[in-house]
Amino acid sequence: MPGDARTAQASLLERAEKAIPGAALGVFSLPEKQRVIIESGRGSEVVDADGKTYVDYLLSSGPLILGHAHPEIVAAVQKQAALGSTYYALNRPAIELAELIVDAVPCAEALRYQSTGSEATFSALRLARAATGRKLVLKFEGSFHGSHDVAQMTTARMMGRNSNETVAESAGLAELLADEVLIVPFNDLEAVAHTVAQRGSEIAAIMVEPLQRVLRPMPGFLEGLRALSTGHGIVLIFDEVVTGFRVAWGGAQELYGVEPDLACYAKAIGGGYPISAIAGRRDILKLADKRRSGSEPYSYLGGTLTGNPLSAAAGLACLNVLKRPGSYERLRAMGDRLRKGLEEAGLRAGVAVQALGEGPVLSPLITENRDIRSARDLDTVNKKAMLNWAHEMIDRGFLLTPGGKMYISLAHTDEDIERTVSAAYDSFRAVR
Ligand SMILES: Cc1ncc(COP(=O)(O)O)c(C=O)c1O
Repeated sequence: MPGDARTAQASLLERAEKAIPGAALGVFSLPEKQRVIIESGRGSEVVDADGKTYVDYLLSSGPLILGHAHPEIVAAVQKQAALGSTYYALNRPAIELAELIVDAVPCAEALRYQSTGSEATFSALRLARAATGRKLVLKFEGSFHGSHDVAQMTTARMMGRNSNETVAESAGLAELLADEVLIVPFNDLEAVAHTVAQRGSEIAAIMVEPLQRVLRPMPGFLEGLRALSTGHGIVLIFDEVVTGFRVAWGGAQELYGVEPDLACYAKAIGGGYPISAIAGRRDILKLADKRRSGSEPYSYLGGTLTGNPLSAAAGLACLNVLKRPGSYERLRAMGDRLRKGLEEAGLRAGVAVQALGEGPVLSPLITENRDIRSARDLDTVNKKAMLNWAHEMIDRGFLLTPGGKMYISLAHTDEDIERTVSAAYDSFRAVR
């Protein structure tokens, strides 16, 4: 518009406000003066509509483990796009990606596809109910398994609630479901054992993020869940949407040495394109074999874009890069370096910082509490200071989710990490 003094970004934001309620794609949004429209991404950086460059620690909330527009993923997608973008029918990239995942993941005898992490956890729970003939799901306070109704129960630890309360975190959930979801604190094996002792014969699944957000499992916790599940005929489901192909080639189950019955994958397995999978025991997954319908128990699992060849081609390219020697050593070393750097920056700035997480996924928490095991312990975190710190970082050109996780990719350089630590120090000083 001639004479329009607004920046390109401001006018796009105004259009977004009109066309998209909330002017957001999901839950990620920033304060008014920091809101961004991303125009492009390359390697570890993104550029906004006004031309400002950021070192990107969002990485699209995790999928971009090789960074933006990795040349091998771009080439694989271009090649597949010329052959067609979707068939609905079985296709070669989907089969090859399935073989690769089954080979890498300890618990995987086979897999079935979906398109998003939410669909994968939703379907894994359905399969578990079908396999056991039971209704209840046990999951952990403060865990996140996506957008579906069961997943949206007690995703946060809210002050003043009991740790075993099942609370709908979103309006509009099916009310009946609250009776079917049991909530227990993460890392509290005694509480799980107590609940299982009372209701074990009704529990279809225990669903857990083996690394809950950035909280590591205490020694023996995952092993305990495994033993309780086996002992009571419960399907143990690891939600590896974040940890899969990120904290190790074989995911958290390889790193922590505990195998679930089913595991859910998304994010990294698509290299930035939508695809997800439920991997695990063949006897459970075969409940989704359509050829069974009519005679034996059959559990519906599918979707228009399920096992999409473009996404599978991107995922294959991504995993083939990750498979190369040194990838996980590099991701872990960078994660450790950033965690240590953030804690030291906090110390120098006079702010109590603990950078929790595993390998290339982390979150710097501002708290004096050195014993954070569960969502409940996060009550001690100074949330306001953390949000302010994140906003300081964004102003300085480092894009991250305020109060959320930071993701590192193989495209991040040592210099990126150094600059981040230096900006983190200035930002901690600013919020001290
Ligand atoms: C552990 C975990 N499970 C499931 C999901 C849902 O995945 P999606 O957003 O692809 O539906 C997420 C998303 O962040 C996640 O972090």
